[in-house]
Amino acid sequence: MSDIIKELEAKRDRARLGGGDRRVEAQHAKGKLTARERIDVLLDEGSFEEWDMFVEHDCHDFGMDAQRVPGDGVVTGHGTVNGRQVFVFSQDFTVFGGSLSAAHARKICKVMDQAMNVGAPVIGLNDSGGARIQEGVASLAGYADVFQRNVMASGVVPQISLIMGPCAGGAVYSPAMTDFIFMVKDSSYMFVTGPDVVKTVTHEEVTAEALGGALTHTGKSGVADLAFENDIEALIELRRFIDFLPASNREKPPVLPTADPYDRPEPSLDTLVPASANQPYDMMELIRKIVDEGDFFEIAPAFARNIVTGFGRMEGSTIGIVANQPMVLAGCLDIDSARKAARFVRFCDCFNIPIVTLVDVPGFLPGTGQEYGGIIKHGAKLLFAFAEATVPKITVITRKAYGGAYDVMSSKHLRGDLNYAWPSAEIAVMGPKGAVEIIFRNDLGDPAKIEKRTEEYREKFANPFVAGSLGFIDDVIMPHNTRRRICRGLRMLRNKKLENPWKKHGNIPL
Ligand code: HXC
Repeated sequence: MSDIIKELEAKRDRARLGGGDRRVEAQHAKGKLTARERIDVLLDEGSFEEWDMFVEHDCHDFGMDAQRVPGDGVVTGHGTVNGRQVFVFSQDFTVFGGSLSAAHARKICKVMDQAMNVGAPVIGLNDSGGARIQEGVASLAGYADVFQRNVMASGVVPQISLIMGPCAGGAVYSPAMTDFIFMVKDSSYMFVTGPDVVKTVTHEEVTAEALGGALTHTGKSGVADLAFENDIEALIELRRFIDFLPASNREKPPVLPTADPYDRPEPSLDTLVPASANQPYDMMELIRKIVDEGDFFEIAPAFARNIVTGFGRMEGSTIGIVANQPMVLAGCLDIDSARKAARFVRFCDCFNIPIVTLVDVPGFLPGTGQEYGGIIKHGAKLLFAFAEATVPKITVITRKAYGGAYDVMSSKHLRGDLNYAWPSAEIAVMGPKGAVEIIFRNDLGDPAKIEKRTEEYREKFANPFVAGSLGFIDDVIMPHNTRRRICRGLRMLRNKKLENPWKKHGNIPL
């Protein structure tokens, strides 16, 4: 018995060593933590229950029989984040470069399966050289097993990927199918083919960082949602993020205690919208002033900045916010903003998170770039997402709600539960100037006439009352009361039940 206990301890010690001191030092020299150090920062102290510490690969080729490390390059198990259960796998770059063997994949699949059974988020800390080259197709099969589980878990439990090292080739597709991707600046990268292959095929010279670093994916491609300075910051922010999410689609989001009164007035909002319709203002100010304690977790802040998406709380409960940002492209909808917001709306709808939509949108961005890029299909994604969402939906139009974009932005017609407008709202097919230039084209030579017509049009539509008279706006609210009105609306909608007709699945325009 005591021999077995000694052996057990020896095996545990061996597993904890990972790839050995030299490789751990190399990991630290790159500014990266080890797989276990990362888990220590991510989870509540002492909460980690490790599984499969003794798993080893079963490869006999290329001298692999002589190289076995207990755990086989990934640390897996479950623990808590601020007291709430999560499942985690953390790839250990010090062991075979964190590469994925069949055994390594089985360990990941085991935590994913159990997370699905009990209903808890899966967090992947990715740091891997990709498929274990010595294992060949067995490793590719392992990836596919993980992919299949990513798809089955989608919409059932939240899945979050934190990329903390290399993630290349087909390996990128597991994170790509998770709900959120966070990256660490200067030490993580994702690409389907690396710089060398790019050079051979397209003759482009590009560094790994420019091709697939954190700034590239959070700013240009939109593949990743957030970029952090280092491992510690990324893990601490991930802890904060988990607090916003429900454990699964079977649960409501968590309710955190708050000292912020639901009816806190915010007089400064009465002057947020400038007198001139063409002057921008910062929608972020409105968001921060209405959520509990100003605490807003923004998703994809560097990508498609003409739309803001993120999580806040009202009376302690999580809400998802989608808001046009007049500071960027005047808040127009375009391809990237529609894609960004559609995916966010669908996440909220999967996970029972009410959606608050703040609207100031002059329409869709015109141009060949947009049309050739497929704005029709991409814009339809956002329309589809809002229309199919059955969670509570509250919309506040602060200023412009023009054209198709009015319909898209969680309008009453897409089953918006509460649709409010500020007195400054203008709800019309288009802005007064453009409208008059079309319907009174014959008067274009007479500036006085055009001005008169424009004024008439403005008086008729540049207000919330026509929409209000048709019942498309439930009420015109004072800006300073916005928080109170939304909080009361969310209370009213707490037990909302709405189901879409049975179907295998819809066919969102991908
Ligand atoms: C086995 C691997 C490995 C791999 C790295 N290692 N990648 N072992 N399979 N895929 C090992 C190295 O041999 C080395 O072992 C240790 O990990 C650290 O690697 P280094 O090269 O010393 O580290 P670094 O200089 O930081 O470079 C990291 C790297 C590089 C850029 C990731 O290792 C690399 O290019 N690896 C190969 C990447 C790759 O082509 N993977 C297959 C992609 S295809 P020692 O013993 O010296 O410490 C793929 C398909 C997935 O993944 C398909 C899914 C459908």
